[in-house]
Amino acid sequence: MDTLHTLITEEEIQSRIRSLAEEISKDYEGKDLHMVGVLKGAFMFLADLVRAMRIPTTIYFMQASSYGNRQSSSGEVMVRHDLVLADKHVLVVEDILDTGLTMNKIMDDLSLQTPSSLKLCALLDKTEGRKVQVPAQYVGFHIPNKFVIGYGMDYAEQYRDLPYIAYLEP
Ligand code: XMP
Ligand code: MG
Repeated sequence: MDTLHTLITEEEIQSRIRSLAEEISKDYEGKDLHMVGVLKGAFMFLADLVRAMRIPTTIYFMQASSYGNRQSSSGEVMVRHDLVLADKHVLVVEDILDTGLTMNKIMDDLSLQTPSSLKLCALLDKTEGRKVQVPAQYVGFHIPNKFVIGYGMDYAEQYRDLPYIAYLEP
């Protein structure tokens, strides 16, 4: 049996999302914002974030896989999408930054489409884990280098449905 330890409560997540949404709404006021959620981990964050925003947005999803069921990044990242982003203001929405390898690959891939602007919003940032630099304009929480689950994030496809974020202890 795994033991769950709460790291960030539902209330803390929702409160931080309201501030992020306010900041993003202000920054993109008067612009058409295209938000790209990275599946599956960011689905819940994106859903709560867009509902807290004051400006209309268009929503897309893409897929990136590097993890399988392991708890560390393999560095090999596969990116899948059918997005057309030329001349658009694009904000990528991700669950968590660790080594940065996944987001580095995603940002390289999306920038080939020459969007008008390309920024990143990550709910969580494990800064200690970074191997390649990835600029993240909006970050929800900086967290310690522990494997976390809940609020969209999984361990072997479990725990995505939790409304809070926890870490696992075997
Ligand atoms: P990298 O190392 O490429 O990792 O920055 C980013 C991707 O790996 C996943 N990831 C996690 N998933 N709990 C998870 O459920 C974690 O603690 C964790 N750390 C990294 C995540 O999908 C992200 O896209
Ligand atoms: Mg992810």
